[in-house]
Amino acid sequence: MANPLLEVKDLDVSYGDIHVLWDVSLSVEEGTIVALVGANGAGKTTLLKTVSGLMHARKGEITLSGEPIQHLRAQEIVDRGVIHVPEGRRLFASLTVMENLRLGAYLPRTRPLFAESLERVFSLFPVLKDRKEQKAGTLSGGEQQMLAIGRAVMAHPRLVMLDEPSLGLSPILVKTIFQLISTLNEQKTTILLVEQNVNQALKIAHQAYVLKNGKIVMCGRGCDLLVNEEVCKAYIGERARKPNG
Ligand SMILES: Nc1ncnc2c1ncn2[C@@H]1O[C@H](COP(=O)(O)OP(=O)(O)OP(=O)(O)O)[C@@H](O)[C@H]1O
Ligand SMILES: [Mg+2]
Repeated sequence: MANPLLEVKDLDVSYGDIHVLWDVSLSVEEGTIVALVGANGAGKTTLLKTVSGLMHARKGEITLSGEPIQHLRAQEIVDRGVIHVPEGRRLFASLTVMENLRLGAYLPRTRPLFAESLERVFSLFPVLKDRKEQKAGTLSGGEQQMLAIGRAVMAHPRLVMLDEPSLGLSPILVKTIFQLISTLNEQKTTILLVEQNVNQALKIAHQAYVLKNGKIVMCGRGCDLLVNEEVCKAYIGERARKPNG
């Protein structure tokens, strides 16, 4: 890969004495969707937290457009346009949809783009426009996920990292969320997607990595891993792999 937007090289991360990531390397090319899949406890969230500066690596390098970022604070990484949508959405439940979106655009660099970003969010997620005065805590699970992604879009991101966006959603909403992630990417947003819904994630990913017990054990094009026997056996299952599954 010539010049990736995000590059992670030989990363080791631990919680105290508990070593969680081992020699993890991955690249995210500008304009693509990269999926990071793996079982519970594999270390997916830990990797996203390390990229966003919430945790620091014992070893390794993280670069954004070639610039090392692993020693920066979380806020400085957000300032550079890396926006993390965490597991469980973390919205401000007692604030309205509009107030949550406004908070997404609080950075000096994003404030002048507020109107443009808001229009983009409302065209991606029309339901948020209809519900802009509603308290975030009273939205449905799917609407809350849309708001969490919408808030990331308000930050005018270079890279959006989504941690389990489909978690807890009904099958129909899962499809909607994956379609919206694809649309967001077609509008030139680069995405690093962590998912346990391996089947759907591989369908939309240009490139994918499989993390197992803290190590990358496989990588390739999403469409190739989707038909890889080992991946299917371990993470997808025969029925789910069928067309429209
Ligand atoms: N704060 C912590 N202190 C100690 N160990 C932790 C901490 N957070 C996570 N771990 C451990 O690190 C490992 C990786 O956790 P992580 O949350 O990154 O996995 P994950 O792949 O995101 O899993 P899931 O799919 O369940 O979200 C697990 O064994 C977990 O128990
Ligand atoms: Mg996780």
